[in-house]
Amino acid sequence: MIIRDALESDLPAIIDIYNATVPTRMVTAELEPTTVEARLPWFREHSPNQHPFWVAESDGRVIGWLDFKRFLPRCAYRGSAEISVYVDEKLRRRGVARRLLEEAIGRAPSLGITAIVGLIFRHNEPSLKLFERLGFQRWGLLPGIARLDGVERDLIVVGRHCPARQGATSASDLQKSRPLDSLESFRGQLNDPLNLMHTLMQYRHESIHSRLLKVRDKHSMLHLDVLILIYHFAKICSGSIVEVGAFLGGATIAAAFGVRDSGKRKVLVAIEQGGRLKHKRLGTRNILRDLERNLARHRVSDMVTLIKGHSFDPATIAAVRQAVGSDEIGLLILDADAAKQRDIGCYRDKLADGCWMVVDDYYGPTADAKITPARADVDALVATGCLEPLGFYGWSTWVGRWRRERATEVVR
Ligand SMILES: C[S@@+](CC[C@H](N)C(=O)[O-])C[C@H]1O[C@@H](n2cnc3c(N)ncnc32)[C@H](O)[C@@H]1O
Repeated sequence: MIIRDALESDLPAIIDIYNATVPTRMVTAELEPTTVEARLPWFREHSPNQHPFWVAESDGRVIGWLDFKRFLPRCAYRGSAEISVYVDEKLRRRGVARRLLEEAIGRAPSLGITAIVGLIFRHNEPSLKLFERLGFQRWGLLPGIARLDGVERDLIVVGRHCPARQGATSASDLQKSRPLDSLESFRGQLNDPLNLMHTLMQYRHESIHSRLLKVRDKHSMLHLDVLILIYHFAKICSGSIVEVGAFLGGATIAAAFGVRDSGKRKVLVAIEQGGRLKHKRLGTRNILRDLERNLARHRVSDMVTLIKGHSFDPATIAAVRQAVGSDEIGLLILDADAAKQRDIGCYRDKLADGCWMVVDDYYGPTADAKITPARADVDALVATGCLEPLGFYGWSTWVGRWRRERATEVVR
C-alpha cells in the first residue's frame, strides 16, 4: 500500500468510498449520496503542502483516503486542522485507516499543523478506539447535535497535539500512557526531518526547481536545496517573513515566490546593510543597488519591504517591527554575520511558536572541524530546547523551528 497525494482523477473512487458510508449512519452526517461534480470545489480547496488530500492505493486502486481541512477560519486556529479518514468498506480492519492516520500525525509538523482534530459520532466506536489508540483524546462532546433517521446522535471531538504534549493529559493518564507517548514523540522527532527531505525531493519534479536554479546561479550564495526550502517555508508559514542579510536577493526572491504561490498576503522583510563584495560569481560594487535591481527583475519588489541598515541597529529593529505590525514571524532567515543569537534576540518576542528557521554558516568554509561562532550560537539554543533541529542542507545551512515555550529567559 502506498500513500500519495490525491489527483482529480481519483475523485470517482473517493466519492464511491464516501457514499458507501452514507447509509450506515455511522460515519458521516450526510444523509444522501453525493456526486463528483458536487465535491469538486471541496477537493480543490486542498493543497499538498498545507491541507493535503491523500489516498491510500493498493494494486493501482484507491482503497482509502484522508484529508486535512482548516479547523476554524479564525487566524488563531491556523495551526489546527480537522482530518477525515475513509476506507473502502471491503477493506476495513486491515490497518488502512491506521496507516493514513499515522502518516497524518507524522507529517503534521512539517505542514505547519500543531493540533489535529477529528469529529466522530459517539456511536462510531471502532473509529473512536482507533483514534484513541493513536494518542487522540476526547476534547469535547456535542450532545444530540445530529439527527439521523429520527434518532438524536452525539458528536465527540477528538484531538491531539503534534508532536504529543505530555502536559495535556491528566496525571493518571500520563502514568498509563508514558511509554506510548515517548515512543510517539521519538517517532515524531524522526518523522519531521524525514518529511522535510521528502518534501524537498518532491519539489525536484516541479517547475519551481528550475526557476530557483536560475535565481541561485545569478544571485545567491546559498545551495539550491536551501532556496527550495525557503520557498516552501514561505509558502506554508503563517505570519510574516524576516530575512537578515539579503545580499543580492537570492533567498528573498525564493521567499517571495513562496508567498506568491501561497495565494496569501504575507509581510516579507529583507534587511541588508549594503557594501561591496569581491566574488568570482557574485561580485558587486553596490549590494543594495543590485539587490533592488534583482527584486525588480523578478517582479517581487512590491512584495518585499527592504530595510537598509545593520540588523542590530535600533532603527532597523523598529522598522522591522513596524512592517510586521501585530503579526508574528513565521519564517526567519539568518544569513548575515555570525551573531545568530544577537539577531534572534532582536525579534524573539515576535517569533511564532514553530517559526521556521533557516540559519546559514553553521559549518565553516574549510573542512576543519572548528566550531563556527554561528554553530556555537545555534547549538546553545538547541541545547535549551528553544530551537528544534530539522536538518542540515547545502553547504552550511541549519534548518529547524523555534519553540516558544522553551524560549523564556534563554535568549540573551
Ligand atoms: C552571505 S550574504 C547573504 C547571502 C544571501 N542570503 C543569498 O541568498 O545569497 C550576507 C549578507 O549579509 C549582509 N550583512 C552582514 N551583516 C549584516 C548585518 N548585521 N545587518 C544587515 N546585513 C548584514 C552582508 O552585507 C551580505 O550582503
